[in-house]
Amino acid sequence: MTTTLITGANKGLGFETARRLVAAGHTVYVGSRDAERGRRVAERLGARAVPLDITDDASVRAAAETVEAGGGLDVLVNNAGIQEEMRDGTVVIRAAELTADVMHRTFETNVFGTVRVLHAFLPLLGRSAAPVVVNVSSALASLTVVTAAGTPAYAYPGVAYPASKTAVNMITVQYAKAFPNMRINAVEPGFTMTDLNQNTGVQTVEQGAEIIVRMAQVGPDGPTGGYFDAEGPLPW
Ligand SMILES: NC(=O)c1ccc[n+]([C@@H]2O[C@H](COP(=O)([O-])OP(=O)(O)OC[C@H]3O[C@@H](n4cnc5c(N)ncnc54)[C@H](OP(=O)(O)O)[C@@H]3O)[C@@H](O)[C@H]2O)c1
Repeated sequence: MTTTLITGANKGLGFETARRLVAAGHTVYVGSRDAERGRRVAERLGARAVPLDITDDASVRAAAETVEAGGGLDVLVNNAGIQEEMRDGTVVIRAAELTADVMHRTFETNVFGTVRVLHAFLPLLGRSAAPVVVNVSSALASLTVVTAAGTPAYAYPGVAYPASKTAVNMITVQYAKAFPNMRINAVEPGFTMTDLNQNTGVQTVEQGAEIIVRMAQVGPDGPTGGYFDAEGPLPW
């Protein structure tokens, strides 16, 4: 039996990933910073709910204790994320408007939150026979993609969100080297219709969750330290 925790699973890509992994036979913990919404989603999916705010040390510690008491963890999907610079489908905080506060809040969730969760759950993953971590990144994390003139990613004017996801990619590579017995990869779901972009994305959550679900199910012979979308490896 595979036990999986997905952060930010009360809606969007995290919800769809939870739905698919339950269908694949995983025991799924739906992480949600709103305990009641998490509970409702878990009930609907046949999953377990765990209150989890990734910016809060005590919340993350309590979630790790709950999951440990429930029998441990095999797969961690670091999905929770924010994109504060986007409003009404438009990037309103560009380089000219960016403050250290916006940068800090973005990193607090997307980067420090990911590390906080990794730190708390690595001991549990270390006891799994086949530990897997999926870090939900973005194509906007890629320096190669973002500097390719004429592409939508090149035209994206925000700074905080792409920089935070570039940090997620580096975290992925360094943890993958540090824990060679774990499969630790970063994934780009593609531009998906969710609250993150005020539903301006062009893909459905079913399409977006595809690579997250796939990388959550890699076996011990699967890739590690990689960066993938549904079509294959992406350039860093
Ligand atoms: N949609 C896209 O086009 C796209 C593209 C590339 C990458 N991504 C990435 O995919 C991931 C999922 O995003 P989404 O598109 O599904 O967006 P979404 O629908 O807005 O979902 C984001 C989830 O993260 C949760 N969250 C935010 N801050 C949190 C915190 N401090 N603690 C715990 N949970 C927190 C949200 O909880 P609340 O409901 O409580 O706010 C929500 O469950 C993100 O990492 C995002 O960067 C999305």
